[in-house]
Amino acid sequence: ANDGTIYEAIGGYDAVDQLNTAFYERVAQHSDLTPIFPEDLTETARIQLLFFVQFFGGPRLYEEERGHPMLRRRHLPFEITPTRRNAWLECLEGALHDVEIAETYRTAILERITLTANHMMNTSE
Ligand code: HEM
Repeated sequence: ANDGTIYEAIGGYDAVDQLNTAFYERVAQHSDLTPIFPEDLTETARIQLLFFVQFFGGPRLYEEERGHPMLRRRHLPFEITPTRRNAWLECLEGALHDVEIAETYRTAILERITLTANHMMNTSE
């Protein structure tokens, strides 16, 4: 069923899971990002999947486990520079291509997440 969410439109949980896996494969290899992420990304990726499911309009799995996102606050311990923001978005854009999300949804996702990513920056270069 398509209830009008990006979540349903791109294929639901399995599609978001594949996108998230492709995203973390890229994060793990991006030299601008590895300095601030844990070496073992298993738990990070598990939580991010809960978040993406919720963010795209699926079940509110993230809030059930972690409470209110407060993403800017949760990112304050990490130096998020414009370079790191760009790197993060690059990984996501690459992942959207890797799993062949259709162009309309890819654009909608990137536009929306870019706003959130801008809000996460907390350090100048
Ligand atoms: C957690 C980096 C943007 C969602 C984290 C962590 C880092 C990080 C280092 C902690 C990982 C860990 O300790 O396991 C970045 C960088 C960004 C960025 C460099 C560049 C702008 C975003 C955006 C979103 C997001 C745009 C959402 C759309 C999350 C979530 C968590 C997280 C949900 C887990 C929070 C929790 O612990 O509950 N991020 N992030 N991040 N990030 Fe980001």
